[in-house]
Amino acid sequence: MTTPSRSFAGSLALAAATVTVLAAGPIACGGESGPAQAKKSDAKAGDAKAGDAKAGDAKAAPKVSAAAVLEKSKNFFQPLPTEAKSDKYALNDDIVALGKALYFDPRLSVDGDMSCNTCHDVQNFGVDVREVDGARARTSLGHGGKPGARNSPTVFNAAIQFVQFWDGRAADVEEQAKGPVLNPDEMAMPDAAAVEKVLAGIPEYAPLFDKAFPTAEKKLSFDNVALAIAAYERRLMTPSKFDAFLNGDLAALDQKQLLGLQTYMDVGCTTCHTGSGLGGTMFQKLGSVKPYETADMGRFEVTKQEADKKVFKVPVLRNITKTGPYLHDGSLATLEETVQMMAEYQLARGKLEPAELEAIVAFLGALEATPPAELITPPELPGKAG
Ligand code: HEC
Ligand code: HEC
Repeated sequence: MTTPSRSFAGSLALAAATVTVLAAGPIACGGESGPAQAKKSDAKAGDAKAGDAKAGDAKAAPKVSAAAVLEKSKNFFQPLPTEAKSDKYALNDDIVALGKALYFDPRLSVDGDMSCNTCHDVQNFGVDVREVDGARARTSLGHGGKPGARNSPTVFNAAIQFVQFWDGRAADVEEQAKGPVLNPDEMAMPDAAAVEKVLAGIPEYAPLFDKAFPTAEKKLSFDNVALAIAAYERRLMTPSKFDAFLNGDLAALDQKQLLGLQTYMDVGCTTCHTGSGLGGTMFQKLGSVKPYETADMGRFEVTKQEADKKVFKVPVLRNITKTGPYLHDGSLATLEETVQMMAEYQLARGKLEPAELEAIVAFLGALEATPPAELITPPELPGKAG
């Protein structure tokens, strides 16, 4: 087990070096750094290859040491698994195949027009890409097109989190999957029995449940529907270039991404966004160093504890370049403004320099990846073929 805060404190020396690198960094096109600083960082970037700087650059760009950044990264991050195992049951292809069909099946909604995939489109990074007035809806459109209260998070890598939902009100994806089907504002089925009845009315589903749950007394049950959908989600993992890097491929990230990763660690994003998801491991207050205006009381709605007002689950940052708009209410449109807001409201150090911001956003781009194609290609739904 790693303890982020402790490791962070232990790496101040490297942090000091970084500030220097940043000041003279390859992306600081304004070239505000002094020659003395540039020299110091040159000395630090021991493994920099000479002559790499593009002709016409005002100054030679000092290199960030991939090996040093990797060493430090190991204090905060782990590579993603290819599946998020459950300690309650074994994942297998039969459960996942059933879960995928159910995930895509709109017949699980009262009007037959909405599936999990409607709001978590797996061909679009697992988020709701439906638009209102030419831009992605800030909050998901529910039953009857009514906007909901919150932005729909991606289902990619969701299963690895310590809890589900922005306020953590479900323990795991198995518990979570029951919610939307019966939620009157979402798929709006009246009760578990109604869901079982619909599925029992599609004979092609029976053999799929038999295969997925061979030893269950009642195979086609609402509990098993949720379990199968969750099993499918447990496979929606997206290892990316960043994982290749964590696994030792020093060339996996380009210089800008390396600088961004170093900056991300040095400014302290890792206080909250750590682990294999770069999030999903803890709750934190939105506005931890400076009050942030929002109507949603987050975790307070669940616990009614004063200290939980405006506390949210720290979200996973995997594929964050693709999952906007941002925050629990979708109130911020771009990643740049979101990262800057984080620096201002979550970090004592305050706003980022433009070069730091650009580097961090470049690093976040290295978290982009999709699950295997066979998992996200829409399936032929049982009883709908031919
Ligand atoms: C009408 C749109 C809508 C539908 C349909 C829907 N969801 Fe969601 N989903 C959301 C929204 C909005 C949230 C965030 C709600 C919150 O945190 O309070 C969410 C949260 C989640 C989360 C938690 C992710 C995280 O990072 O905390 C998972 C997992 C999830 N949904 C899976 C599903 C599955 C599986 C289905 C189908 C059974 C489904 N959703 C159907 C909109 C939807
Ligand atoms: C003190 C804890 C904390 C720190 C430090 C922190 N964050 Fe966050 N971050 C959060 C919380 C909590 C949220 C969710 C807030 C919400 O949605 O209301 C969040 C949300 C985000 C989001 C939006 C995610 C989404 O799916 O909409 C991004 C992007 C982000 N953080 C990036 C960063 C970066 C980059 C840094 C460093 C500059 C950083 N954060 C520092 C706690 C933190």
